[in-house]
Amino acid sequence: MKPEYQRLLTADGSPTLVHPRFQEAYSSRYGAWTQANALYLRQTRTHLHPAPRVLEVGFGLGVNFRATLEDCLGRGARLSYLAYEAFPVEAEVLEGLELPLDEGAQAVWAQVRAAWRPWEGPLVLLGEWGRLEVRFEDVRQARLPLGWASAIYLDPFSPRVNPEPWQPEVLRALFEAAAPGAYLATYSVAGQLRRGLLAAGFRVEKVPGVGKKAWTVARRD
Ligand SMILES: C[S@@+](CC[C@H](N)C(=O)[O-])C[C@H]1O[C@@H](n2cnc3c(N)ncnc32)[C@H](O)[C@@H]1O
Repeated sequence: MKPEYQRLLTADGSPTLVHPRFQEAYSSRYGAWTQANALYLRQTRTHLHPAPRVLEVGFGLGVNFRATLEDCLGRGARLSYLAYEAFPVEAEVLEGLELPLDEGAQAVWAQVRAAWRPWEGPLVLLGEWGRLEVRFEDVRQARLPLGWASAIYLDPFSPRVNPEPWQPEVLRALFEAAAPGAYLATYSVAGQLRRGLLAAGFRVEKVPGVGKKAWTVARRD
């Protein structure tokens, strides 16, 4: 039997889904689109980078990708986006999660949806806008690039229900994947996570969240 994804309207009017096994929403109930923009895009300073290289843990429904893509297209910045996704949704689930994007971003997103065949291997899409690669792998087994990312979006389900991608060895690998000066953002403020980020070598800060009290931002100096 196919898993049932429950659809939710988040506080800013953008939709999200609740994962049937993890029983958590893919994005913040306080605003899926708001979280993608205010936390991942802006707290990593990706909106200021002339040619961002984003590494994401948990591509999910591509909300963070779409927010980043729309921003980059709007200011003519070339985007390189590398995401890891261990439990990809089926294409029709992705189709059911539309967002009101600008025309250019909508056209690229239509290409992503058309190319979404996780069972065939990684999705690679290239265009004048940049490059997207989604690797359908567990981040714990992945060989991450070294010193590459200008931004890291750490966005698995919560450490309570989905502890694996928050483990110290993953945080160390993310530190190695970050270029000097890179920022990592995540919605979790769990003490264990913050200690793990510090131990991996990041400078760690708690910043005020939207809806949620606080988020975590880390930097590789
Ligand atoms: C909160 S959702 C991500 C939402 C997504 N960033 C977006 O913008 O739509 C968490 C995602 O992490 C993925 N995930 C969980 N464990 C993982 C792992 N070990 N490696 C890679 N992805 C994982 C889940 O399958 C899920 O798609």
